Amino acid sequence: MIHEFHNLSLRTRNSFGVEQRAARLIEFDTEEELRTLFAESVPDRWMVLAGGNNILFTQDYDGTLLVPRGEAIRLLDEEGDRVRIEAEAGVEWDDLVAWCAEQGLWGMENLSLIPGKVGAAPVQNIGAYGCEAKDVIESVRMFCPATQNFLVLAAEHCSFGYRESVFKHELRGRVVITSVTFRLSRTPRPNLGYGDLAREVEARGGASLDNIRAAVCAIRRSKLPDPAVLGNAGSFFKNPVVDRTTADRLRTRYPDMPTYPTADPERVKLAAGWLIDRAGLKGHREGHVGVHDRQALVLVNHGGATGGEVIALARKIQHTINERFGVAIDTEVNIL
Ligand code: EPU
Repeated sequence: MIHEFHNLSLRTRNSFGVEQRAARLIEFDTEEELRTLFAESVPDRWMVLAGGNNILFTQDYDGTLLVPRGEAIRLLDEEGDRVRIEAEAGVEWDDLVAWCAEQGLWGMENLSLIPGKVGAAPVQNIGAYGCEAKDVIESVRMFCPATQNFLVLAAEHCSFGYRESVFKHELRGRVVITSVTFRLSRTPRPNLGYGDLAREVEARGGASLDNIRAAVCAIRRSKLPDPAVLGNAGSFFKNPVVDRTTADRLRTRYPDMPTYPTADPERVKLAAGWLIDRAGLKGHREGHVGVHDRQALVLVNHGGATGGEVIALARKIQHTINERFGVAIDTEVNIL
């Protein structure tokens, strides 16, 4: 069913909990409804709002927000140990991970408890604990209002990278993702290389799907604030990727600084959370906004914050990190 709202408060529709309004917001369930919505005319300004978990509104939105609500998950086919499933854009991401664990399907257990909807997962190629959505996505189905057609883009054409995809660039604002097809496995494939994960899994009795999911959920709950309690959008910044010379210079000065190799031997990924923490900003508070006291990569709304206040703190942090370490950190959150 289509639901249309006008001059609607977005406070409960963005995980930062900032108070901005949308001129128009339309919820739809099916692809047919979506096609109908665009059949007569394409609004001048529109965008998709999924769970609102990776977005910061700094002003009212004067166009049309589209909210996909289809929540079906389907097993498409099985061949050997490979299983293909399709989930509609409105499925809560963690409900999908839980469903896969119940079905004995391996591949996305490390992505447990990431807030957001399935349709948003390919956009920023969500990732955690050594796994990214691109590792399990086979294709993405979308509607293109300009041509009034549905199309399916295979993963190899989605330009996936670290928190990157074609949906943030060439296809930004041009398509509405309606479902995602995943390729999973019935063969156990534990991926426990990241941080404390192996130890947490061992403490729960070994590498079963349920234990890995429980361990990831426990680690996340211990570090990341629950948006229902403290408004936030997960990591506010991306981890910066720098050249090897910069990484070596910093490693000499800070021998305990974590670094991660990338596919390119000349480029090294640093931990923005560590840099912000080391700059003394963890737990730092300015009015209604602050840096989370257990994970410095996360900015939080202590209550009543505006998007402008969040941005002001973010710019200050970026400036401090640049001055102190000579490293530029980019925002991960979509700022509007
Ligand atoms: N660190 C600190 N202080 C902090 C935060 C981190 O010293 O306040 C250090 C940690 O001790 C560790 C390193 O920095 O040595 C990395 O920290 P962590 O493992 O917590 O991961 P992260 O790099 O800060 C990334 C993702 C998270 C994801 C975790 C786990 C990005 C932008 N963030 O954070 O994703 O959950 O790895 O895989 O890549 C998100 O995108 O919203 C998100 C939460």
